[in-house]
Order: sequence, then C-alpha cells, then structure tokens
Amino acid sequence: MRKIYVFDTTLRDGEQSPGVNLNTREKVEIAHQLERLGIDRMEAGFPAASPGDLAAVNAVARAVKDVTVIGLSRSREHDIDAVREALQGAQDPCIHVFLATSPIHRKFKLRMEKEQVLETAQAAIRYAKKYFSKIEFSLEDAGRTELDFMAEVVGMAVREGAKVVNIPDTVGYLNPAEYGAIFKYLKENVPDIEKVQLSAHCHNDLGMATANTLAAILNGADQIEGTVNGIGERAGNTAIEEVAMALETRQDFFQAKTGLVLTEIARSSRLVSKLTGMVVPGNKAVVGANAFAHESGIHQDGMLKEKTTYEIMTPESIGLKESKLVLGKHSGRHAFREKLLELGYELSEVQVNEAFVKFKVLADKKKEVSDEDLLALLEEKLVDT
Ligand code: KIV
Ligand code: ZN
Repeated sequence: MRKIYVFDTTLRDGEQSPGVNLNTREKVEIAHQLERLGIDRMEAGFPAASPGDLAAVNAVARAVKDVTVIGLSRSREHDIDAVREALQGAQDPCIHVFLATSPIHRKFKLRMEKEQVLETAQAAIRYAKKYFSKIEFSLEDAGRTELDFMAEVVGMAVREGAKVVNIPDTVGYLNPAEYGAIFKYLKENVPDIEKVQLSAHCHNDLGMATANTLAAILNGADQIEGTVNGIGERAGNTAIEEVAMALETRQDFFQAKTGLVLTEIARSSRLVSKLTGMVVPGNKAVVGANAFAHESGIHQDGMLKEKTTYEIMTPESIGLKESKLVLGKHSGRHAFREKLLELGYELSEVQVNEAFVKFKVLADKKKEVSDEDLLALLEEKLVDT
C-alpha cells in the first residue's frame, strides 16, 4: 500500500481563516493533538508575519517530538531568517519557501517577468539551503500557471535540491481532471522528478478541494496538504480527515493510505473547532454532527437491520462512540420501538401503535423529538390507559 504523507497546515493556512487568531498556548495544544493524530509534517506558522507568530512557531518547534515542523517563508532572505530563528530547537526542521508563478500574480502582484520569477525562487532556495537540509518549495497559484513554465520552475527546484515541490491550487479554480493531469504532466516531463516528493495543496472555493487532492494522489502525488475541518483562507483548504477517510474507505480503489491515527479524528476536529471558534457544519463530511445520524424511517430500519446499509464507515473508526438514530417526522415504527426499549418501556403492540400516532403529531411540530419529549409523551399515554 502506497503511503501518502500528510502535511498539516491547520496552524498556518488554517489560522488564515478570517476571524481566527491562535495564541501560543492554543497552537501548542493543537500541535500536541496533531501529533496524536499521526500527521507527518506540521506547518506551525509564518514567522515573518509577526513577532507573536515567530514565538508561537518556536514554542511548537520545541514542544513536538515526532513530527517535522515547518515554517512558511516568502522568497526573501528576511523571511528565511525568521524561519531559522523560529525553528531553533526543532528536532526535524523544514522550511517552506514559496513564490507565485501564474501570469496574473506575475503581472499584478509581483510585477516580474518569468525569468525574474525563476531567478528569485532559485536565489531563495539557495539561501535557504545554507541553513536547512529540508526545503519544500511551492509555486503559488500553480493552478493558473502555464504548464511549460510550471515544469521549468519545478525542474529548477529539483536541481537546487528541494525535497518536496508543492503544486497549490491557491484559489480553488481547478477540477479533478485538470489538477490530476498537472501531476501526470510533471511526472512525465520534468527530468529527475523522482528525486522530489510532489505535494498537493488545494483550496475549496468551488467545493472540490478533497476531490482534487484525491485526483493528485491518483496521478502520483506523494504528499497532501490540508487542515483539520478544512479551515483556511476563504472557503478553506482540503480537510485532511476527508482525504484520510476516503483513502481508508476505498482502499480497493486508491491503493494508498495516510499514516493518520483515524480514531483521533473526532477529537482533533472538536479541539480545532473549540480553539478557532469555527463551528463545524452539521452536514460536514466525516466530522459533522450529522455524519453518523439517521432520521428517516427507511434509513433507520436499514440501520437497525444492518449498519452497512446506510453507513460506509463506522463512527468508531474516527473515534466516536456510536451512530445516532434521530427521531423526527420521517422516523418509522422500527426506530421508535427501539427507542422505547432503550428508555425502558416494553409496550404491547397496541400501546406502541397508540404512542406512535401521538409521536407523529408531536414530530410534525418539532425538528427533533428528544428523549425528554418522548418520556413526557409516554407518561401522558400511560396515564390515559
Ligand atoms: O495556497 C497557497 O498557495 C499557499 C502557499 C503559501 C503554499 O498556501
Ligand atoms: Zn493555501
């Protein structure tokens, strides 16, 4: 089974979610949980962004033991120096240097010609090499970069000794067929490409970050980048738990897996949500509150007979206790009877039917019928009989 390395950027790209600001203590707490989750590489922040972030990256670098700690840097000596300072004390430091390569970024943001982009990136990698044995280089906005120029920049990074070359779809513009094709093209057209690991870094502007990441894996990506709960700039980054569970659930198809400790997913999700204040939508894949909840009678009946009828993965596999059968207006008699038994009520068929009619009247008025509602309803009924 091919191993896919996980580069977690919850503490950097994830923290770039509007409204999120993690202090040092919070970053360290999340870093420890990410370690338990079994990620391979952790981007702890962008040290040149502020003295506070530099200090926080340093605290993370000293706190974690079994993970590569990474600091982000623009292609500037000042930023590289900040990462050097921030990663002092790290057991396994790595610098992540980036420069935009797309025509839009070259023209409007960098005001550089292609040649200058190549030279600036090369100079940055050479400078970083003096201090770091592990360098990742990213072509920002690779998704909108000409393929031949992308190959030229990747080739330069390979020759200069980068260990990982990252191909970000910075603005979430691509679809899986296009993103996968980029990896195939680079594998086939860049000399010595096997000397580096290729990395996928997707944003979710069109809701395709996970699909694009999986397409990259199918086309040879060795590493995936993302965040817990998919938090990040704008619509966020690839959710690492989604990729890990997609690989796990469909091993038959992907023949690849991450090293994540899957049973730590739910806990990681809760912690990141709590400390960032970013609420996880109920219908979020894998970690949403409804991901293992069933309301309709047909589904509940299926679940009670055999769970695989409506669940492709188990709640236990991500560290949750059990699936939930939620009683609402779509629920059926089978789940209702099971609930009564769970609450300690063994009623006759006639009584169950009578209670069920009352339950349906109540369910029409409420989004969810709680245990307390049911108990009240049953007391009412028992007094009647
Ligand atoms: O999305 C992006 O391009 C980035 C880079 C800094 C890697 O986050
Ligand atoms: Zn990003």
